[in-house]
Amino acid sequence: MARWPLWFLELLLVPAAHVLVAPYTKVEESFTLHAAYDVLRYGLSPANWEHWDHRTFPGAVPRSFLPPIVLGLLSYPSAALASATGLVATSIGIQVIVRLTLVACFAAAFTHLARTLQRRYSTSTADWFVALTLAQFHIPFYAGRTLPNFTALPLVVLAFSYLLDEKLWAGIALLTATATVIRLEVALLAVPTALALVVQRRLSLPAALGAGIAGGFGALALSAPLDYALWAPTLPHPSLPDFTALHTLWPELSAAHWNIAHGHAAEWGTMPAHLYVSALLKMLAGAAPLLLLGVVWALLLGLSAKSGHVLDNTTLRRTVASAARTLGPGVVCLVAVLSTVGHKEWRFIVYAIPPLNIVAAACAAALAALPRRALRALSRLALTGLLGITAAFALFSTYVSTHNYPGGCVWRALEAARLPHKSTIHFHSYPLQTGASLFTFVRGKHASPAFPAPVDVQWVYSKSEEPSLQTPQGAWLADLDAVVTERWREFAGAEIDGHKMWALIGACDGFDGVHFGKEGVQVRTSPKIGLLRRL
Ligand SMILES: *[C@@H]1O[C@H](CO)[C@@H](O)[C@H](O)[C@H]1NC(C)=O
Repeated sequence: MARWPLWFLELLLVPAAHVLVAPYTKVEESFTLHAAYDVLRYGLSPANWEHWDHRTFPGAVPRSFLPPIVLGLLSYPSAALASATGLVATSIGIQVIVRLTLVACFAAAFTHLARTLQRRYSTSTADWFVALTLAQFHIPFYAGRTLPNFTALPLVVLAFSYLLDEKLWAGIALLTATATVIRLEVALLAVPTALALVVQRRLSLPAALGAGIAGGFGALALSAPLDYALWAPTLPHPSLPDFTALHTLWPELSAAHWNIAHGHAAEWGTMPAHLYVSALLKMLAGAAPLLLLGVVWALLLGLSAKSGHVLDNTTLRRTVASAARTLGPGVVCLVAVLSTVGHKEWRFIVYAIPPLNIVAAACAAALAALPRRALRALSRLALTGLLGITAAFALFSTYVSTHNYPGGCVWRALEAARLPHKSTIHFHSYPLQTGASLFTFVRGKHASPAFPAPVDVQWVYSKSEEPSLQTPQGAWLADLDAVVTERWREFAGAEIDGHKMWALIGACDGFDGVHFGKEGVQVRTSPKIGLLRRL
């Protein structure tokens, strides 16, 4: 029986479980999430563009709308079906559907790669690749998070699959398209990979250039008109002084130029050069020793070149050699070049993990098939242990991470408060950055086939950054009915003419730290966000 349906199911269910236990999102996810929201709620008609989030809250550095629009369109049928059948009762269910749609893209791409591994190397290499990938924390937890890095990941993995399958032109074209539209750092994979293929005489220079041009310009031909039309009305904006409408023809390049030219990347902090080594080790977890052993093993076999040795394994040698030859240059270049950039985040190099997992999987498969029975039993025990430790670490990390979205619980506190129809609820930025997305505004006017029907009691949600609304007096004088803020202590204590203005009626806890004590491991939380009602 074909094995890929099982892989697809596993690759779907594990990240889906992560989505269900941590359904809320952070600010980094919000551009893509909210653009998908706008597609679902308003459709693509230009007549409604003025309602889109980037128009009502302009000022963010432009990114391409192509990925979120595709995600929104892909989510549309399930969102409409779930709304029509009553399967989801609130717009939060629609947020989960959007995230699960991204998970489905992830699962499709990784299944494609697993099938290539099976065809080219061995079924057990593919099995181990899927098992290691899913036992780790970062990729499965983020597979359903609408960060540009994770809308790029499925495409990058599909490109890896093409490359390993000798569909070199398609692989290079897809990497270039992803770099052009979604994340420019993918160029650090695309360019060295293409060069290596040319040097290895597997692809001619004209073919490599052709693939790059077709991928890059092909993607821009789709994205540029869309981005220009959607972004141009928001520019120029005071927070983006020299960003013109023309820059939105290629937002990735403009944003990179803006960040570098203005030194904005440094605003996010400078990290030590070796940060990515520890980031890779954390992401790989139990796959790290397998990766090292696999490389050393293949090198030793390659050097001795004595087949028939008890530790010889042709499949291992072939897998490591071909992964290193085809994907190695890109992975090394990505990590090395980004290590020279001051600002570092693990997700910038997340694309290195699948190729490294392939080598680790090849090693695991060879270990599990060692010819001597005692040796084989021992190595299988060790492999089970590594997989178990990796999965336990992932479970623990997920458990801790679920406490990290205090803004996600605001809607429950609001529901409990039973505010009257047409109440205006104002959000400060912290709750909006930690989980209070547009989808959590469940009593809005969601009149769209992709949303559950609007409820009778509706509220007006305000995200305005108007400075006067930041203070207890200003918010009170503006006639707001409720305020959701991280500065709830200040609000609850504030008085006007001798009487209090705001009453604390709800709170949301957030993560403080992990405590290892006598009673075992404890995740410490404390109130982070307060819900205040006008007195
Ligand atoms: C080599 O490893 C593969 C798994 O990738 C396994 O199926 C095969 O039996 C191994 N060959 C030898 C000679 O151990």
